[in-house]
This record gives sequence, C-alpha cells and structure tokens, in this order.
Amino acid sequence: MNTTTAPPILERLSALGDETRCRILALLERSELTVTELASVLQASQPTVSRHLKTLAAEGWVEARAEWRNRHYRLAPELDEPARALWRIVREQIGDGGIYAVDAERARGVLERRRLRSAEFFAHAAERWDEVREQLFGSTASLLPLLGLIREEWTIADLGVGTGALAETLAPFARRVIGVDRSDQMLAAAALRLAAHANVELRQGELERLPVRDGELDLAVMALVLHYVVDPLAVLTEVRRALRSGGHLVLLDMRTHDRGPWYAEEMGHVWPGFEPEHMHAWLEAAGFASARVVQLPPARDSHGPLLFLASAVSP
Ligand SMILES: C[S@@+](CC[C@H](N)C(=O)[O-])C[C@H]1O[C@@H](n2cnc3c(N)ncnc32)[C@H](O)[C@@H]1O
Repeated sequence: MNTTTAPPILERLSALGDETRCRILALLERSELTVTELASVLQASQPTVSRHLKTLAAEGWVEARAEWRNRHYRLAPELDEPARALWRIVREQIGDGGIYAVDAERARGVLERRRLRSAEFFAHAAERWDEVREQLFGSTASLLPLLGLIREEWTIADLGVGTGALAETLAPFARRVIGVDRSDQMLAAAALRLAAHANVELRQGELERLPVRDGELDLAVMALVLHYVVDPLAVLTEVRRALRSGGHLVLLDMRTHDRGPWYAEEMGHVWPGFEPEHMHAWLEAAGFASARVVQLPPARDSHGPLLFLASAVSP
C-alpha cells in the first residue's frame, strides 16, 4: 500500500497533455476571454471548449469571473510556483509559431471587436453621456479622480467646514481632516454627517485665529467662505501660519457679482465676490508662493454667481 501523498503538481499534469488545452492556456495567459470568444478563436464548438475549461478549472489552471450573462476565463493568477514553472516549460516548448500564432492573431480580432463595441456606444452617446454619467454615478463623478492627488499621510483642514460635505469627501483619502467653523449649528450638522469618519475632528473657532498649530496642515481648503470674512488678508496670513512649508492652500469663491443687497441681507455676505487680480495680490501679500487664480466656467444647471479657484503654496 502506498502511504505517501502525491505532490499536488501531479494532479495538474494531466490537463497539459492536450494541445487544445495548451492553446487555451496560452490565450488566457494574455487576456480574459469568454467561452464564445475562445470557441471563435479556436474554431471549435462551445461544448468542446467548455469541456476543456472544466478540466483546466478542476486542476486549478484557470479561473472564471461572472459578468452579465458571460463568464470571463483567465489563467489563474494565484498559481503556485511549481505550477508556474511547469507552465513556463510547456510554454517554451510549444513556442509562438504555427497554430499558436494563428490563435494569437484571431484573439486580437476578438478583442478588437470588443473595443469597437464600446467605441460604437460612444459614437452615439456623446450627446447624452453627461446625463448618463450623472444618472449612474452622480453629479460629482467627473471630479472624483482628482482626489487621487491627496497623499494618505496628509492632515487637511476644511476651513469653514459648514455641514461637512467636502470633509466627508476628503476623509477617506487623508490621515486626518480637521473641520473648523464658528457656528454651533453648522458644526452639529457636520458632526452628524461625519460620525462614521474616525479621522475627522471638528474644532470650533474663528478663521482669524485658527485653532490649529503652526505648520500642522499639509493642505487647507476654503470653499465658499472667504466672502464672509471681514479681513481676507488677515485670514490668508493666518492660514499660511497653519500650513507646513510646502503645504497647499486651495480656495473656491465667487467672482465679483451684482446680485444686489439680497446676498448681504439674507445670507450675511460681507463681500460681493472678488476680482481675480485682487485675490492674487492678497495671496502674495499673505506670503504665499506660486499663487494662481483660475476663473471657472458656469456649472451646468447652476444659478449662482461665477466662481474662481485660487491655489498657492506656503514657502
Ligand atoms: C457658505 S458656508 C460654506 C460651507 C462649506 N465650506 C461648503 O462649501 O459647503 C460658510 C461657512 O463658513 C463659516 N464661517 C464664516 N465666517 C467664519 C469665520 N470668520 N470663522 C469661522 N467660520 C466662519 C460659516 O459658519 C459657514 O458654516
């Protein structure tokens, strides 16, 4: 009686003793393919391909991923080293010529047809893509990739945090987010919204005397808050104090507008927006470097004044 356990690699050997299965593995090593696509490349019937895939899957050579009604097959990414070494030898022996070159060429055609299907969609979707994207992913989806610019070790302050919408967006990307505001009611709303984010700290305080240590911040964000401030230059100077050397300020606010006294009376605005040149001069006077003020185009479906985005670096 044989009491030793056979090495697992032996269980994988039988699958490789068939040329169609080797052709399938050579194809799946390069790209994911469905049964239909494999059948078209190998010019075999789908039941034949399915049978070979079943053997390969049983021996751990391939894995499938379900997508819609299709299963996409690929070479198992977690193959152990003996299996990898075995496949390397087989791959080297079968080479890239003959039927394997024909398969590779046909597979390129199959993938090109897939690419054309999506290209075809966009050829007809240009006019309604903005609407489709908004319906599927929300109105901020086109800006989300920019959050990748935030470094995970950063401490960010959202100055004039309000109800915490921006802090909520920033929180998953940074080590710490400090929200500062002077309003009890705004801070209470922010606390409710941000309860699930352990790395967000709300601090009550004035922008003119920030409750933040010298150089504590890597990034300070001020969104739609500077027009509430009586002395913007003093606040910008205070923000620079709180930034480390090389830390960034980004500031979103309104360009000068003529919406009349309603904004001042009803919403307490102190400034009717700002001129970009004025903003630029303040940033430099506050000691910032690389000051930049970019006027933003009107957002779709928005009714408020036009905005600008200012950015600068603490030297
Ligand atoms: C228009 S809200 C903007 C809130 C948020 N940044 C946003 O984009 O939704 C302005 C916020 O700034 C706060 N604020 C205004 N002046 C301030 C000051 N001098 N010190 C601290 N907070 C101030 C207000 O309490 C309010 O919550």
